[in-house]
Amino acid sequence: MPETGGYLDRVYDVDTPEAMRVFYDDWAETYDAELAANGFGSPARVAAALARFSPDRDAPVLDFACGTGLSGAALVQEGFGCIDGVDISEGMLAQARRKGIYRRLWRMKPGGAIGAEPGVYAAITAVAAISPGAAPADLIAPLIDLLPRCGLFALTLNDYAIEQGYLDPIDGAVAQGECELLMRERGGHFPTIGLGSTVLVLRRL
Ligand SMILES: C[S@@+](CC[C@H](N)C(=O)[O-])C[C@H]1O[C@@H](n2cnc3c(N)ncnc32)[C@H](O)[C@@H]1O
Repeated sequence: MPETGGYLDRVYDVDTPEAMRVFYDDWAETYDAELAANGFGSPARVAAALARFSPDRDAPVLDFACGTGLSGAALVQEGFGCIDGVDISEGMLAQARRKGIYRRLWRMKPGGAIGAEPGVYAAITAVAAISPGAAPADLIAPLIDLLPRCGLFALTLNDYAIEQGYLDPIDGAVAQGECELLMRERGGHFPTIGLGSTVLVLRRL
């Protein structure tokens, strides 16, 4: 894997939840510039995928692990008008707050409750949010549980996550009849390091 000289070289090796929070707090101020320089493609791909299946772009969306708000900004570009965000890093949330695009932002504890009421959000996004170097795969089931019937879950899983079995909870939810898979499409995540991601859109049944 080519090196970028930035935080991206190290993020996939951060292991404990507390180390993750500290890592993202440190990265927050330079995160947007570094990701732009690496051609971060996933936010726009998820927002376009969600727009394709959303009947109402004014319905509330929860941007899980919203970071500095690049994922929320992509949703705004697609016409979504009511976006809340949650993250573990106060540094990342401070940058997201500055963008002025979220209705509400809050911090959750690493490994703690997400802090949203079930049934409130018509859609949940998780962009570059569930993977090695971000939230664990065991958050997929509780995120699906937050959705009302017909609610949409649009997320990316990068190539590392797929290699490490992060699809299993999604396959499980589909096999159990909790969700249907509307879309699955691999594309560019960080072209500079040759890393792809798969966009998945699920509908709660
Ligand atoms: C690569 S960033 C993605 C941020 C944003 N969605 C984007 O598209 O730029 C991963 C985010 O996951 C957050 N994170 C890491 N572990 C988490 C956890 N256990 N629960 C919630 N968020 C977490 C980090 O603080 C960071 O903001």
